Amino acid sequence: MTATTAYDAATAARLRADADRIVARYPQARSALLPMLHLVQSEDGYVSPRGIALCADVLELTAAEVSAVATFYSQYKRHPNGTYTVGVCTNTLCAVMGGDEIFERLADHLGVGHDETTSDGAITLERVECNAACDYAPVVMVNWEFFDEQTPAGAIDVVERLRAGEDVAPTRGAAKVCTFKEVSRVLAGFSDGRADEGVGAGPRTLEGLRLAREKGWTAPELPAPAPPAPGATKPAAATKPAAATKPAAVAKPAAVAKPAAVAKPAAVAKPAAVAKPAGEQPAPAPAKAPRAPRPRAEAGSVPPGKPQSGAEPKQPGKADAKPRSATRKRPTTDGEKD
Ligand code: FES
Repeated sequence: MTATTAYDAATAARLRADADRIVARYPQARSALLPMLHLVQSEDGYVSPRGIALCADVLELTAAEVSAVATFYSQYKRHPNGTYTVGVCTNTLCAVMGGDEIFERLADHLGVGHDETTSDGAITLERVECNAACDYAPVVMVNWEFFDEQTPAGAIDVVERLRAGEDVAPTRGAAKVCTFKEVSRVLAGFSDGRADEGVGAGPRTLEGLRLAREKGWTAPELPAPAPPAPGATKPAAATKPAAATKPAAVAKPAAVAKPAAVAKPAAVAKPAAVAKPAGEQPAPAPAKAPRAPRPRAEAGSVPPGKPQSGAEPKQPGKADAKPRSATRKRPTTDGEKD
């Protein structure tokens, strides 16, 4: 296949060797697609067409299948990304704490909008969703490293130092921010040995844990599992086969026949029902109908054995006949559908 010819021979060989290491981690090759896409970004700075071709070739997928996955996640870029992705959290809490203002000020300063990259290729600006760092709002992420409690001026200072090529340290985490390609390689599963650098969770995030330890609070014990009653275990086992019944779900399509229910309108033709009662109670039934005084019979008949018919009080004494009439007309409507 010529899918990988877009890469020069040396690069293609190197990427294939990396791909082999990634694929080896999974029982099925296609499961390696996500890290493979990060690998492509570590090389090209985005999910390039040649990278998609490489993934498809290595994982025996179609380019369409690879693209379908790549376009689903925001971490996969469809066009060349900047050296640093600066993501401003504009989710609810950060937004009200200043996130919206930070984004607007950065956009004005850099001259780009959401998902756009500065002309020098250094910064790609993004609005991002909650980074689970709300206790340090408003938060700005640079290649997924935290910059807590930012201000417009502070965020502008960060991007200017990055553009100047300085090593910039995030508030928490690694000692310095890595480039988009470097981080992408780590996300592909190739450690840079820096995962344990710096502080992970800040004291504010750990405040609940500190209080719990100080007060001696502990999580309630989980209720002990009910003693396995001799017969109780069996029904449990019976549940398993139920799972096997899933194929029954396949029968649901049969339920599709519900359109028959649509035939209910046919029931409207209840007049036909009048004909049925004749079946149950020969001719007298129709004659008795006029003797409306039977409302008494409703109260009495409902409890006995016509609880369902009670739903059709219109013809108290002929409630039994109605269901039959409905049965007759259903076939009629089926035919109509056809
Ligand atoms: S809302 Fe911004 S980190 Fe949660």
